[in-house]
Amino acid sequence: MLSHLAYKVAEPLWNRPATTAAVRGRAVKQLDLAIVLAAGEGTRMKSELPKVLHPIAGRPILDHVLLATAPLNPAELRIVVGASREKVGAHISANFPSATQVVQAERNGTGHAVQLALESAPHLGSVLILAGDTPLLTSVTLQEFFDAHIDMKAAASVLSAHVPDPFGYGRIVRDADLELERIVEERDANPIEREIFEINTGVYLFDIAVLRAALAGLKSGNSQGELYLTDVIEIIKSSGKSVVAIASNDYTETLGINDRSQLAECTAIMRDRINDAHMKNGVTIVDPTTTWIDAGVEIERDVTIFPGSSISGASSVASGSVIGPRTTLDGVKVGAGAKILESRVSESTIASGANVGPFSFIRPGTTLHADSKIGAFVEVKNSVVGEGSKVPHLSYVGDATIGSGTNIGAATIFVNYDGVEKHQTTIGNDVRIGSDTMLVAPLTVGDGAYTAAGSVITEDVPAGSIGVARAKQRNVLGWVLRKRAGSNSAESARKAGATEGSTKVQGEA
Ligand code: UD1
Ligand code: MG
Repeated sequence: MLSHLAYKVAEPLWNRPATTAAVRGRAVKQLDLAIVLAAGEGTRMKSELPKVLHPIAGRPILDHVLLATAPLNPAELRIVVGASREKVGAHISANFPSATQVVQAERNGTGHAVQLALESAPHLGSVLILAGDTPLLTSVTLQEFFDAHIDMKAAASVLSAHVPDPFGYGRIVRDADLELERIVEERDANPIEREIFEINTGVYLFDIAVLRAALAGLKSGNSQGELYLTDVIEIIKSSGKSVVAIASNDYTETLGINDRSQLAECTAIMRDRINDAHMKNGVTIVDPTTTWIDAGVEIERDVTIFPGSSISGASSVASGSVIGPRTTLDGVKVGAGAKILESRVSESTIASGANVGPFSFIRPGTTLHADSKIGAFVEVKNSVVGEGSKVPHLSYVGDATIGSGTNIGAATIFVNYDGVEKHQTTIGNDVRIGSDTMLVAPLTVGDGAYTAAGSVITEDVPAGSIGVARAKQRNVLGWVLRKRAGSNSAESARKAGATEGSTKVQGEA
């Protein structure tokens, strides 16, 4: 069920530049706990798949949040799961085994979720709280938020953002001195508060002891009858401790996903971010709006990607390669200087200097060795094509091993399936398979062997031999003039000197 979500958990590209406090010369302050809230039902997604497991750029929404949090190195990570906790929990266990899962059986609000997450948690230190549905947050922003929280010696900090359309978000209410006073939810806000464009992003840092005390004072007297985490701000403020709202300068980072439209919006922003990072690294992307690259994909400099291409899964592309236009690579390792044009390739390796396409289909388990060529309208499955070997036109290669320097003639079919089982074909080095050969597996064609064009080869062909397996040709002279009299063909034949008289058959004794 979750197999399509399996991938190497690598740090996202945009998290890589060292931006930690230590690097910027600040005192390193340990984050003691991070809590990710993911117990929501995600009903507006209208999906069998839990909301936080919907993929963006090849990894689930939740994973983006967890990977952005990871560089802050929290001593402990707790994830609150509720609705669909079986699937979400299984995913967390498989991919983030060191995280602690906290079950919120009843959805009683964000304050309730954090109360549960703090049970048996450390009593001192700092806690970062964030939602599991904001995949665009970066570790850079989270680290800066943490640094600011420490610098300001705040008991509670809220990451805020100025958004063009604040509808639906909690609003940041500031006092006459522009200091954070409280957060009011859309549904509970008065008309004046609804005019506030600074919103609560749902990312917070707290002193754990202060938060714990404030949570005990939460009440559910609001429009949803829930315990709102946001209410702790007012409680902490009224106890005389410092609370601050720190504005993010890129509100797009804080967008949350509640429905499929927001999923598409965030996916497009993620696409642009990934493409920008690759372009900064020296990759030419001719049309970034139609180029889709998964978060974990590695691309070296001087690769060119033409429009309409996507590179997904555990793929990597080495320097100087040309991909596209309209090419799909999924789980493909591409060597230096390879060219893949208008083709679809999955779970395969394409070595340096190899050429594919246009219009070819390379299926899982294929290895194309250096400088080999798969030309137009060729399907290859679970096969090895040796160094410098070519399958230039209109062929099917399945379950085969082809040596080096071999040429497979146009329209050759590797007949690997007998209707019940698949069989293997082995072709040696420097072989010449004639056009339109049927190679009926299991079969071995030895080094330097040939097959005659149009042959149906059912027996092994020894090294250095030519396999010929086709009917001998006969020419029935004058046939067109007799049987198609009056046709253009007959007329042309007559002009060329053919006569209908003879009934001789060339090629027969
Ligand atoms: C919340 C904030 C709002 C903020 C917005 C930012 C509150 C009361 N409001 O509103 O100020 O602007 O986020 O996106 O916190 N969750 C649980 N258990 C629950 C309820 C929620 O784990 O009982 C999780 C959800 O899965 C989600 C997160 O908490 O990941 C936020 O909950 P959601 O219902 O989306 O809150 P918003 O109405 O968006
Ligand atoms: Mg939300």
